[in-house]
Amino acid sequence: MKKIGIIGAMELEVEELKSRLVGEKVTKKAGMDFHEGFLGGAPVVIVRCGIGKVNAALCVQILADLFEVTHVINTGVAGSLNAKLDIGDILISRDAVHHDMDVSPLGYAPGIVPQMAESYFKADERLIELAMNSCEKVNPDIRAMKGRVVSGDQFIASKEVKDRLVSLFHGDCAEMEGASIAHGAYLNQIPFVILRAISDKADDSAQMDYPSFEKAAAGHCAKLVEDLVAQI
Ligand code: ADE
Repeated sequence: MKKIGIIGAMELEVEELKSRLVGEKVTKKAGMDFHEGFLGGAPVVIVRCGIGKVNAALCVQILADLFEVTHVINTGVAGSLNAKLDIGDILISRDAVHHDMDVSPLGYAPGIVPQMAESYFKADERLIELAMNSCEKVNPDIRAMKGRVVSGDQFIASKEVKDRLVSLFHGDCAEMEGASIAHGAYLNQIPFVILRAISDKADDSAQMDYPSFEKAAAGHCAKLVEDLVAQI
């Protein structure tokens, strides 16, 4: 039986989904509220994990251990690293990497986690295709593309840092949880996908753009998630 964990970092990334949950039961763990119920007829657990990679990693492990989820979806907003991705567009993860993992003094390429078989965590092919289809269906006017999520405990708001993430990691969007969720899902062998709507361009305009666009961008992803869970 499928059970889908849906993680957003902030309340505005999950509030719309929680409002549509049927038969809600709430379990508290590690300061997080896990909302179990049915979304679009599918059994789900919706949770706001909080911002950053530690919160995200703890959350995915709880979803694995306590709720035995079969799939993980991370929904939210991100800064664009790709000129083809404008504010409001959606990035569907092909893979995710930690941009702040750096053991380069010991000879490892930036992003590589020493002694792990994978550091670019691949999203599930079926979830990627289902997400692309759902997006076309529910957001026909919004561009969706597949690409790479780069994550770190940093809000990216300068052209210099943005350029570094593009040249070192070929990232398409930057955010603060996706690679941790991907990493945790990989270790627990749970298929995952990350869905991020663009709220800013991760450059010198990001501080201005982010507050103006975060709510609308998060709404685009919520619509997509609701349709997607019914297709899984
Ligand atoms: N989430 C949304 N925009 C972001 C940015 N520019 N950097 C990191 N996380 C983000």
